[in-house]
Amino acid sequence: MIKVAPSVLSADFSKLAEQIQQVEKAGADWIHLDVMDGHFVPNITFGPRIAAGIRKITQLTLDAHLMVSDADAHLSAFEHAGVDQITVHVEACPHLWATIDKIHDLGLKAGITLNPATPLSAIEPVLHMIELVLIMTVEPGFGGQKFIIESLEKITTLDMLKQKRGLQFEIQVDGGIDVVTAPQVVKAGATCLVAGNAIFAQADIPLAVKSLRNAALSALIT
Ligand code: DX5
Ligand code: ZN
Repeated sequence: MIKVAPSVLSADFSKLAEQIQQVEKAGADWIHLDVMDGHFVPNITFGPRIAAGIRKITQLTLDAHLMVSDADAHLSAFEHAGVDQITVHVEACPHLWATIDKIHDLGLKAGITLNPATPLSAIEPVLHMIELVLIMTVEPGFGGQKFIIESLEKITTLDMLKQKRGLQFEIQVDGGIDVVTAPQVVKAGATCLVAGNAIFAQADIPLAVKSLRNAALSALIT
């Protein structure tokens, strides 16, 4: 099963509740929350209070992607806000074991993500401990960027490692995912697609969710 996770980063924040309900109705699996601190990445978005507001209006899994320098300091605030899983950047977490344990102790699923230039070897020791690996397919910080094609090899290698070790984590991709790149990443082994612009910047948001899923599924048939 391929999961579709619309990123609210590209939503119209004056219509956030309405647009989240639209993607939920159209069959989205998760809602992806891009949290940025203006330090780990140049952009600033939102924090736990907005996440708590979103929690009130959707039953979907809330998937928090923390692009912040000190993720450990904010984990419990996001748990209080009601998110279901937290993904942290390996580049910002020098004590990965402790961070993963802390996320699990809060009762949440744990994900680790890597910037495009960070090699998979940085997370190999913890692959058996986590529920999700997020391969960034653009530099984190902004929506609407071009997919980095070299990511495909990284996804393939990660999927091979996953099969070899008999592990179950989701392989999530984030950045420049649209109807063209979705089949490519799914062929390479991605199981969860984050998409901002390809969903919320489209005139017909429900149709965009369905088109992305169909594009992804086409890769499994051919
Ligand atoms: C980028 C964020 C992404 C972003 C993707 O730093 O992590 O989740 O919303 O946006 P698109 O799909 O427009 O590339
Ligand atoms: Zn993201």
